Amino acid sequence: MRTFSVRVLDDAFELSYVPNGKTNATKTITIVCDPDVPIGENLEKIREKLAGIDFDAALIENPLEYDFSDTIIGVNHQRIDMGLALSNMLNIPVVSQETANRNGLAEAIENKRQYNQWHLDYYGEYAAKRNYGQEAMLTIGNGYYGLRGAYLAANADVDNYPGMYVAGLYNQLTTKINGRDVVNEDLVNLPNAQYLSFSIDHQEPFSVKKENISDIYRSLDLHTGVLTTTMLVSLPTGHLLKICAQRVADMNQWHRFAIRYEITPMNFEGTVTVFSRIDGSVTNANVDRYKSFDGRHFDVTETTINGSDAMLSGQTKTSKVAFSIGSRLSSQEITPSTKINESVTDDVLEQNFSFQAQTGTTYVIEKAVAINTSLETKGDLNNAVTSELDDANFSGIVQQNASFWNEVWQDSDIQIDGDLTAQKLTRVNIYHLFVSASPISNPHLDASVGARGLHGEAYRGHVFWDELFILPYYTLHTPSLTRQLLMYRYKRLDAAKQNAAAEHYDGAMYPWQSAQFGDEQSQLLHFNPDSGKFDPDNSRLQRHVSLAIAYNVWLYYHSTNDTEFMTKYGLEMLLEIAHFWSSKAVKNDNGRYDIKNVMGPDEFHENYPNADEPGLTENAYTNIMVSWLFTTLANIHKAMPAKDWSTVTTKVGLNDDDFNRFDDIAHHLALDINKDGIIGQFAGYFKLPTLDFEKYRKKYGNISRVDRLLKAEGKSPDSYQVAKQADALMAYYNLSFNTIDNVLKTLGYKMPSEYLTKNIEYYLARTTHGSTLSRIVYSELSLIDGNMDQSFAFFNTALRSDYYDIQGGTTAEGIHLGVMGAVLMLELRNYGGVNEFESELAVDPHLPEDWHRLAFSERFKGVLYKFDLTHTSIHVTVDKPAKLTVRGQEFSVAPDKPLQLKN
Ligand code: BGC
Repeated sequence: MRTFSVRVLDDAFELSYVPNGKTNATKTITIVCDPDVPIGENLEKIREKLAGIDFDAALIENPLEYDFSDTIIGVNHQRIDMGLALSNMLNIPVVSQETANRNGLAEAIENKRQYNQWHLDYYGEYAAKRNYGQEAMLTIGNGYYGLRGAYLAANADVDNYPGMYVAGLYNQLTTKINGRDVVNEDLVNLPNAQYLSFSIDHQEPFSVKKENISDIYRSLDLHTGVLTTTMLVSLPTGHLLKICAQRVADMNQWHRFAIRYEITPMNFEGTVTVFSRIDGSVTNANVDRYKSFDGRHFDVTETTINGSDAMLSGQTKTSKVAFSIGSRLSSQEITPSTKINESVTDDVLEQNFSFQAQTGTTYVIEKAVAINTSLETKGDLNNAVTSELDDANFSGIVQQNASFWNEVWQDSDIQIDGDLTAQKLTRVNIYHLFVSASPISNPHLDASVGARGLHGEAYRGHVFWDELFILPYYTLHTPSLTRQLLMYRYKRLDAAKQNAAAEHYDGAMYPWQSAQFGDEQSQLLHFNPDSGKFDPDNSRLQRHVSLAIAYNVWLYYHSTNDTEFMTKYGLEMLLEIAHFWSSKAVKNDNGRYDIKNVMGPDEFHENYPNADEPGLTENAYTNIMVSWLFTTLANIHKAMPAKDWSTVTTKVGLNDDDFNRFDDIAHHLALDINKDGIIGQFAGYFKLPTLDFEKYRKKYGNISRVDRLLKAEGKSPDSYQVAKQADALMAYYNLSFNTIDNVLKTLGYKMPSEYLTKNIEYYLARTTHGSTLSRIVYSELSLIDGNMDQSFAFFNTALRSDYYDIQGGTTAEGIHLGVMGAVLMLELRNYGGVNEFESELAVDPHLPEDWHRLAFSERFKGVLYKFDLTHTSIHVTVDKPAKLTVRGQEFSVAPDKPLQLKN
């Protein structure tokens, strides 16, 4: 095992290691730290100095002493968890010399490796957007609610945002802006029930301020879903305390969560008062740019405090959803003689009680919280909450959660050996996918996954085409959950039909932004605070959202054979969506069909420059997917019992003429393909000038949102060949290369050889990746194209999107669930190489060089496959006899006959 050691001096790091082959001679390098730059930048110098040498671990000789981490150091009067930073940077575990001495080097390193793979930790950040972002990343939840990982003593302000959301709980409000009524529908931020704080000797309650805190460590245990915050408090009065708070969402009894709060006076004895609140004064205020809109979504209707219990009931203002939130305090410090004081002011319920505390003793208080709403609970909500509370306690929840999380990590985990960061962040993504939706709570809910999870208020909690990036992971692991989420769309099929009818189309036109009712929630006009004017917003023309829904219905059906779902709901959705597209396609003078007035995924292009009409014609992604949908429907027809097919087609009102038209459209939709085989993003795309990216980079640095830069210069992105995200080539992400290649053939286009390579180069030179959904597509495309290095580079940036908040502040407003889901799919489809698009699973692994092993499960057509892949072997087990194609060759596998091949 090869290690290097770090000795931390007042203003420098001393690195020492044994160069290869020279067992005795230790080499020492001193890195002087610049006090004027962030400490992280000084750490970068370590990477630079050790570049090219492979180490298995690092040892820190003289860290500061903390019980939450053995790798915190101080240099130039700044502190950092060097272990976390180095391990992210170099992908190796880092331990203190003392831990290594105590446990033995090998064991200490292995323990840390395990720890790193299962924990999302942050040291010492408690301000501004970075803190908001960490709260989003530390959200706990169970598909029913999401509770941001804010400090318990925090109230909403510029540094903290303790939001809580219930899936599907929306409300509309109207705000007058510049004389115009603007209606917004928001996922409602509910009363803050996580609040707990304390005071010493009847002083002011502790609040989260820099001057009160000497250290903070936050750790989310991905294995159990427990979030632990350890705070070393140092009050201006000289009192020192250790506050350790743990919180957990109940995955089974999903109305509940619980907090365990430990207070340890370190240097005093005196009166400690504990404060608990349910704060009903909150508004939706997570997103700065929404601040001019009304954000007070509910009225508090009733408040009661009864000893250690508190209950707040309310109702949303226009959607009229009633809710009750209750809490119960328990502690050995609450004795029969303890007086629990109460107050209710301005919709804030507060209880407090006091006890005498001794130095060095830990006092434990628990707060159990339950929430019920009229959306999913029949009968009296207060009674429902009370009975939840009768049965809720922290350790009970942790214990009962074990079966849920064990199952997740057994069947839905993706194991990556050799890449510590990829392993950790992969599990972070899986964790957040199950916080955003869960097979236990979702059957009782009418909700789907929002673009930003249940983690923040960006995009107002709306549901987008992002489902396309998220649902496939559920489909291959917990298919019942996908079915449940698709029901959210099915229940809004009538609304989608009304949307279509309102614009004189047939069938179903799903909205670009969907919330409670399934009507269009995208704004028609966007208020620009800089100009004080309303600018048109055409984003609703991204009609391709219906294709994402069709794709998810098809993939679910294809991977599960759930004919009951298909005949009752799925086929009806597919047919209504197809009917819509059929009514939107118009024959042009060349005998081909055009689809007009749409936008593709690239949101920089809303219409033709100087056009009177909104939208574009012949968006390649849309047309390719429409052709695929019509052909897929014809295949479903062939494979389905005639009776089932005709029951649904009769219900939808489609006849042979309609299907003949579908077939004609599938063969004759127009694409604008140039002589080099480049697929034009839309008709007329090639006539637009290119944009000098270098010039703009020089001028502005980051040009990922060049649309805004151009607008500020009085120009429009519509006028240039510049894309926010993958568009023309997007279909190659959704389906296999062969499938899309066949669509082009069906459409009668002859493509030159190597056309994909040329298209990737062409569009990469024109794409700014202004959406996190862009790089995942290019990672996939690069791999199809045989460019592993490029694929892996895009993958790595996508993997770190929220962890490093690569868009500079958007994680504060909620995680990006689309990229999180898609990263998992890249691991399965790209690097695991499992293709689920044919009638049997096919495997062709492409492990990145550093990944020694990639192991995961997938459920496909009722069989649980377990894949264990290395650079030299392919090992597959199944729970039922099944067929599997490996690099083109078909194999039979059975439970007692696993497949073991050389890779
Ligand atoms: C992307 C869309 C996406 C939306 C919500 C936008 O920035 O361009 O493709 O649906 O965010 O995640």
